[in-house]
Amino acid sequence: MVTSASRRLAVAIFAIAAGLVLQVHGEKQWWQTTTVYQIWPRSFKDSDGDGIGDLNGITSKLEHLNDMGIETIWISPFFKSPLVDSGYDVSDYLAIDPMYGTLEDFDNLVARAKELGIKVVLDYVPNHTSTEHEWFKLSEASVAPYTDYYVWHEGILDENGTRRPPNNWLSLFNSGSAWEWSDKRQAYYYHLFEKRMADLNFRNELVIQETKKVITYWLDRGVFGLRMDAMPHIYEDAEFRDEPLSGRDIPANEYMYLNHIYTKDLIENYELIRIWRDHFDEYNAKANDGLERIMFTEAFTDIYMMTLYYHYGAHIPFNFLFITNNGIGYNAATQSPAGIKNIIDEWLRHMPEGATPNWVIGNHDRARMATRFGSEKIDMFNFILLLLPGVMTVYNGDEIGMTNTYISWEETRDPEACNIGPDRYHAFSREPVRTPFQWDDSTSAGFSTNTTVYLKVNENYRTLNLAAQKAADKSHYKNFQAAMRLRNTTVAKDGALKTLVIGEDVFAMSRELDGHDPLLVVINWSKSPVTVSLDDFSNFSEKLEVLLSDVNSDFKFGDTVSRSSITLQGNAALVLTSSDITRFHYSDASEAPVQHHP
Ligand code: NOJ
Ligand code: MG
Repeated sequence: MVTSASRRLAVAIFAIAAGLVLQVHGEKQWWQTTTVYQIWPRSFKDSDGDGIGDLNGITSKLEHLNDMGIETIWISPFFKSPLVDSGYDVSDYLAIDPMYGTLEDFDNLVARAKELGIKVVLDYVPNHTSTEHEWFKLSEASVAPYTDYYVWHEGILDENGTRRPPNNWLSLFNSGSAWEWSDKRQAYYYHLFEKRMADLNFRNELVIQETKKVITYWLDRGVFGLRMDAMPHIYEDAEFRDEPLSGRDIPANEYMYLNHIYTKDLIENYELIRIWRDHFDEYNAKANDGLERIMFTEAFTDIYMMTLYYHYGAHIPFNFLFITNNGIGYNAATQSPAGIKNIIDEWLRHMPEGATPNWVIGNHDRARMATRFGSEKIDMFNFILLLLPGVMTVYNGDEIGMTNTYISWEETRDPEACNIGPDRYHAFSREPVRTPFQWDDSTSAGFSTNTTVYLKVNENYRTLNLAAQKAADKSHYKNFQAAMRLRNTTVAKDGALKTLVIGEDVFAMSRELDGHDPLLVVINWSKSPVTVSLDDFSNFSEKLEVLLSDVNSDFKFGDTVSRSSITLQGNAALVLTSSDITRFHYSDASEAPVQHHP
């Protein structure tokens, strides 16, 4: 039976989908409730048949993204680059790599995005440049003013006349020393990542000036946000002190061999964020169009250091706690309902008052969500994260539940993995999460007309693809899309949040706002069925209605269940609402189409 509450929400879902409802959400800025869709440009969509994704390919899919409900896209680096680290080794911040297209293609992309109401966010890599960058070449040749653009050190001369690096600092890409000797300059330069990615010297004011120019350049081209890459690693100890051993039983060339007290999380990184924030604020004041340009920070560190970025002016410091905590990654065996509740509550507790929370479940550096937790938990995480307050980040392909692709040692090019060797490379390689987007079951999964593509297509594409999920009655994609529509309701944007663990296996959370149909997400983490009471959500009516259910569930839209006793099958994920909502009064005119009281 489809009762009035679910019908009303269905009307809301439809109305929003059809663009009929102009949502006005208090004082909130566009970015405070947005969903950020991360695009890996190399494998998203190839428009010219060379087997490599490109900007025109992205433009051709903007309408689809809009249909999914996406209002913000973050595109990983497409700047000029020798591609040692898939474009995170930039050789010109202001130019587009010809592999991806031209500046004109980029302008077209931004213009089309604007028409569709989509904001574009770029990846900015301030910490290092490619050694092919003009700045590095001039710096290596000691040409002013570039001489001190990078972190140079002559090293230490032993009594017997041999020279060695100034200290024991290690490369994060596991290649041993982070210092590389330059014959030309007769000095070492510091590279946290690959040796062809040299760290800029942020103790040089000129370098900071350069970063502001880069930021302004892209904002002027219509970009609304920048993701600041590798924030914990921008500054290093000015005294070049040795780092202590971590005590881990691993080879001495691996990054985790040391405790990074002198090369990670330095307070100067935060001060730099403050400088950039002032720059953004000035830009916003000048633009004077009521639309804030914003800054994301990428920092794999602990909750204190992640949330500290808020205090220094980052709009969105990525919250990676659903992926990893202090370097320990989560999977189905190590995560739990209590763990999920804890992540949510702790982030909200650590976040400064009035700040915007955010939730990340996957990206281009970590195993795919479906692979980490199992395909049966895809809808679960999508429902939870999409219906939490604030910003959610989705890595392209996670909305259809793409899985990691097996890439053999011989095929592996990721420098982080290559330095580890054939036995353990798979624990480090990021290529399995970067394979082409699976659009349909045609050649190369509809990614390219070319049968040879940049990274091989996952063999499961014939059944696991967007077209199949659009055609199916129930699918991860359809659930994602429907949850996106619920996410656009006022209750999901502004409603109060309550999280609860019931028994050992069930996590539940509600979103409630006076005058609006409430939302209740319930998941069963275990493989076995469990019967629970949701009576702790006492504002909900005795009878609850099903709005969304995971793909394996027997429940369907409009089914009613009892609040005091509900049986959830293994790995169930449901979104429910009250069936009796007459006690709410509708005061928000912007939701007029949602009202259904004759
Ligand atoms: C973080 C990026 O996410 C990663 O992909 C890259 O290798 C490093 N920064 C270096 O830029
Ligand atoms: Mg191409």
